[in-house]
Amino acid sequence: MDSKRGILIAGNWKMNLGPKGTQEFASHLRTNWKISLSDKTRAAISNGKLGAHVFPASISLAPAKEAFAGTSVSVGAQNVHYEEKGAFTGEISGPMLKEIGLEWTLVGHSERRQYFGETDESVRKRTESHLRQGFHVVFCFGETRSEREDGRTNSVLETQLSRGLPEKLSGSDVEKLVLAYEPVWAIGTGLTATPEQAEEAHEYTRNFLIDRYGREIAAKLKILYGGSVTPENIRGLLAQPNVDGGLVGGASLKPESFLSLLEGAGSLF
Ligand code: PGA
Repeated sequence: MDSKRGILIAGNWKMNLGPKGTQEFASHLRTNWKISLSDKTRAAISNGKLGAHVFPASISLAPAKEAFAGTSVSVGAQNVHYEEKGAFTGEISGPMLKEIGLEWTLVGHSERRQYFGETDESVRKRTESHLRQGFHVVFCFGETRSEREDGRTNSVLETQLSRGLPEKLSGSDVEKLVLAYEPVWAIGTGLTATPEQAEEAHEYTRNFLIDRYGREIAAKLKILYGGSVTPENIRGLLAQPNVDGGLVGGASLKPESFLSLLEGAGSLF
C-alpha cells in the first residue's frame, strides 16, 4: 500500500441481504463500531485515509442509504445503466441513484460479464457515463483460470483495460475512478491470489495506467484486489505497494467480518 493513496474496503454484497438484512447489518455496525475498531482505525476512517463502502442489491439501496446515514459507510450500486432513462427493463440509472444521494457505482464485475453479457464495450460506456454524471466508479477486471494457465494473464488484462477504460481522464475523473483487479479463479473459491500474484498483476496494471494516462495520474489511481479476501489475508495483500484496498464478496456479508476487514486495513496506518 502506498499510504499517499489511502485504502478502500468495499463490500460487494451481490444478490444477498434484502432491506431487512441490510438494516440488521447497519444496526450491528453502529452498535459495534467503537467496540470493534481501534482508535487508530477510526481515525484513519474519519480523516479519509481509509474508506468503507458497501454495494447492496438494487432493492436494498434506499434502505441502506437510510440505515447507514450518519455512519462513515458509504453506499454504492452494483449495476447501473449508461443511459440516464428509457426502455431498459430491469436496469436502474444514475439519476435514480442521485435521487437517494448515492455516489458510487460498480462496473464490469466478472459475474456481469459472465452471466449477463457485459462486454468491454458496455463496460466502457458505463464507466464513461457514470464518471460524466459525477459518480465514483469501481472498474473491475481480471483473468479466468484457463487464461492464467495458458500464460495469457497480462494480455487479457491489457485488453480489458484498454477497451474498458476511457481514453482520457479529466481531473475530477482521476479523483473518482478506482480499479479493482479480480482474478475470476479467486472469486468465491477460497483460492485467494498470493500477495505476490496480486502485486504482479497490480504492477502490470499500474504500468498500463502510466502508459495511458501518464505517471502523475497513474500514481493517484487506487487499484483494489478482489477474490476470496478475508480478515485473515487482507493485511498481507495490502502490504504490497500497488494494492490499495479490497473488493470483498463473501467476507463482507457479516458485519463482524466487515469490521475485522476494516480493522485489518486500519492496523497498517
Ligand atoms: P469474494 O467475491 O470475496 O466472495 O471472492 C469478490 C467479488 O466478487 O467482488
